Amino acid sequence: MPLSAASDRDAHQRDPQPGLPKATFNFRCIGCGSMASNAAQDFRCSQCNNLLEITDPSWNSSGPSASALKSMWRERRSSNATLDLSGVWRFRELLPMPESEQHVVSLREGNTPLYELPQSSRSTGVPHLYAKHQGMNPTGSFKDTGMTVASTFARQAGYRWVACASTGNTSASMAAYAARGGMRSVVLVPEGKISWSKLSQALDYGALTCQLRTDFDGCLRLLQELVRRAPVYQLNSINPFRLEGQKTLAFELLEQLDWQPPDHIIVPGGNLGNSSAIGKALLEMRDVGLVSRLPRLSVIQAEGANALVRTLREAGGKRLVRVQAETRATAIRIGNPASWEKAVKVIQATGGACEQVSEVEIAQAKAEIGAEGIGCEPASAVTLAGLKKFVRSGFVKPDESVVLVLTGNLLKDPDFTMEFHRGDLFSGTGHQRDSDFLSSLRHPPVVLDATLEAVIQTLERAEKSDPTHTNA
Ligand code: F0G
Repeated sequence: MPLSAASDRDAHQRDPQPGLPKATFNFRCIGCGSMASNAAQDFRCSQCNNLLEITDPSWNSSGPSASALKSMWRERRSSNATLDLSGVWRFRELLPMPESEQHVVSLREGNTPLYELPQSSRSTGVPHLYAKHQGMNPTGSFKDTGMTVASTFARQAGYRWVACASTGNTSASMAAYAARGGMRSVVLVPEGKISWSKLSQALDYGALTCQLRTDFDGCLRLLQELVRRAPVYQLNSINPFRLEGQKTLAFELLEQLDWQPPDHIIVPGGNLGNSSAIGKALLEMRDVGLVSRLPRLSVIQAEGANALVRTLREAGGKRLVRVQAETRATAIRIGNPASWEKAVKVIQATGGACEQVSEVEIAQAKAEIGAEGIGCEPASAVTLAGLKKFVRSGFVKPDESVVLVLTGNLLKDPDFTMEFHRGDLFSGTGHQRDSDFLSSLRHPPVVLDATLEAVIQTLERAEKSDPTHTNA
């Protein structure tokens, strides 16, 4: 078959090119702990079928000291070398390295801003509140930080095709990195359940885009079968190289906070790769001595896609409670999260928590983050909604510092935003009544005659209706 002729299925087993440093990392099973220097196509343990993670002895004992790492990473911010310009590869001492720099596929990902949130700070009563905006990555989501690493290893392995199942952002990111790396990409997305802007990104970056008549969980199941049958390299977060790249969010965040850990990091949960990656990074940073204290890592899900919440509450984190997922935050419309066990481990290791929020709470929080002049997609807004619940329950105390991880850009889901501001978001749903109070956050467009008088009258009406609004 022409596909297999152009790929190398045993690529992780190859020796490096002569003269280049040999990779020192290994794959470790998160279930039985068995170690291997290579991984099968499905990235599952050959003994017990559980997920793999990447480890490297040089990340603690034999590597550079914490203070050497801190100054090296800071110095690289003024360098114009390709690897240093990436907010992922800048932290390469704690990442798996390819055999050659030539394999690296980068779009200068990472280096995302850490914003203060003054209005949300006041409304939640948490003075030290920040947003780490991963929506400011090249394709508009946090996926890029993982994709640069995983697509690099796909390219090094000589794959012609890469593939993923996606609720939209992974497919957009994978398609972009495949295009940059000279590979072809195939995406499996649930038909009618991903936003147009994410779908349009995949099309523009040249992906073979398959809209399947199923949900995300159905797409991911099919992908698992596909990678066993065809020589395509899977770029879902089951691929542990993805999580390695996504670790850098935590490195960069701590650097931005001058290595003073916040008390809490709050992240949305879908397939649970990102929370697992951030948690892994926190634990590794502690082992290396980069931080002396761990922030609590907490995960927020939509009520209609609350598999992890139920797994922890009903099964003590010991077995996955699957759900039939439904939420307008389509990025996290996932009922059978692949990385649930990794997420449970890091939540427990850091003393974090897991909470769920309603559709109305998500819409409100998204509008409030928009009103900060930042904006994000609905899935990211669960973090602010979850924070409010944590403050009410006392899990977050007013004197504690909190970082919300905003995973996707506002422009990722314009339909949601337009429907919210026009007042149609909850039309025909059971939430219509309880969402009435959101009207003060709505800013619908007004259609006017093209006269100065009409514009001035509208301006005056707006001023009267909100005389207290200040820029402070
Ligand atoms: N936020 C956004 C914007 C996402 O796109 C996703 C996941 C998540 C949060 C949840 O992250 O899965 O690591 O727990 N999107 C995936 C996708 C599933 O296909 O784009 P997670």
